[in-house]
Amino acid sequence: MKIGIIGGGQLARMLALAGYPLGLEFVILEPAEDACSAHLGEHFCAPYDDRQALEALAQKVDVVTYEFENVPASSVEFLQQQIPVYPPPKALACARDRLNEKTLFRELGIETAEFAEVDSYESLCQAVERIGRPSLLKTRTLGYDGKGQQMIWEETDLEAVWCNLNGVPAILEALVPFDREVSIIAAKRVSGEMVFYPVAKNIHEEGILRVSVSLADDPVQTLAEAYARKVLDALDYVGVLAIEFFQLGDRLLANEMAPRVHNSGHWSIEGSVCSQFENHMRAISDQPLGSTENIGYPAMINLIGTIPERSSVLAIPGVHLHLYGKSPRPGRKVGHITVCGKTEADRTGLQGKVTNVL
Ligand SMILES: Nc1ncnc2c1ncn2[C@@H]1O[C@H](COP(=O)(O)OP(=O)(O)O)[C@@H](O)[C@H]1O
Ligand SMILES: [Mg+2]
Repeated sequence: MKIGIIGGGQLARMLALAGYPLGLEFVILEPAEDACSAHLGEHFCAPYDDRQALEALAQKVDVVTYEFENVPASSVEFLQQQIPVYPPPKALACARDRLNEKTLFRELGIETAEFAEVDSYESLCQAVERIGRPSLLKTRTLGYDGKGQQMIWEETDLEAVWCNLNGVPAILEALVPFDREVSIIAAKRVSGEMVFYPVAKNIHEEGILRVSVSLADDPVQTLAEAYARKVLDALDYVGVLAIEFFQLGDRLLANEMAPRVHNSGHWSIEGSVCSQFENHMRAISDQPLGSTENIGYPAMINLIGTIPERSSVLAIPGVHLHLYGKSPRPGRKVGHITVCGKTEADRTGLQGKVTNVL
């Protein structure tokens, strides 16, 4: 079976690495010649909306998936007329736009922060009036790793904020004084079977995920699963889905979702019986899903901006190093490290040893 992947970054790379043992083959549509997954399959080096490349992709593969939300809608529509595209295009349309995803969460009875649409200076002022300060203005689309976000403090000048936005559609959100951030990764197979990973506790700095710790048997697991199940059902979902939440007491406020494998599930490569990447492959090729049970106590530490000395990381017994083959740049995710502790204390110890060599 041949799988087409749109996008050629580290997620495509880890998807392909998980798919090869299952006998799957890959075609990767990615315009960057030196993309870090380019050599993991047949590389169609063309823009994401190149009709000829899309036509050739549809001819060559059995199913198409993608590693990022911003695949052009026209490309997905075109492909879908010829072959299955998973996750389904309506999930993509919803997840690429913060207003759509928060509206869906609310419709499904999933709590979110207070939010308001902003499309003019007047609507920004009204939104700040209603939601209050501090609050956070985010572009509706194309934001990631905290990009496209502006904090609105007591003293912030709204005219300057509006000016910075450059007329791009946005959403204002109340700043949530969360106890912690957690996410859940779920997978649903073509024929309906679903699995859920243990929730992960996520630590972000400057809007970028730094550390993700898998929490087996956490008290919020049941609620996170119930919310994920609602989204999977509502979107006739197929594949892996991630939802990020803010936890306040025993409440979960959904922040955003990703219709794809997610950074907060990278620990599952070594830390789960079956990784999120393998389960995505199984789900879209309609195979039985693998166990999401943890192996020990996993945690993941992102490598951001710089690549540590390989030998000092590998000298720590039991760590798993993943370098993505990307050149370092400030704020860029260039790899990650997974530790699987034998106990919770062992995990904390291993995390400390890793942090010391970064
Ligand atoms: N409404 C909010 N209240 C508190 N913190 C927030 C809020 N929105 C975002 N953040 C912080 O910024 C991080 C990145 O924001 P997010 O909405 O997830 O955008 P991105 O697409 O960049 O990941 C979050 O993980 C969280 O730490
Ligand atoms: Mg996020």
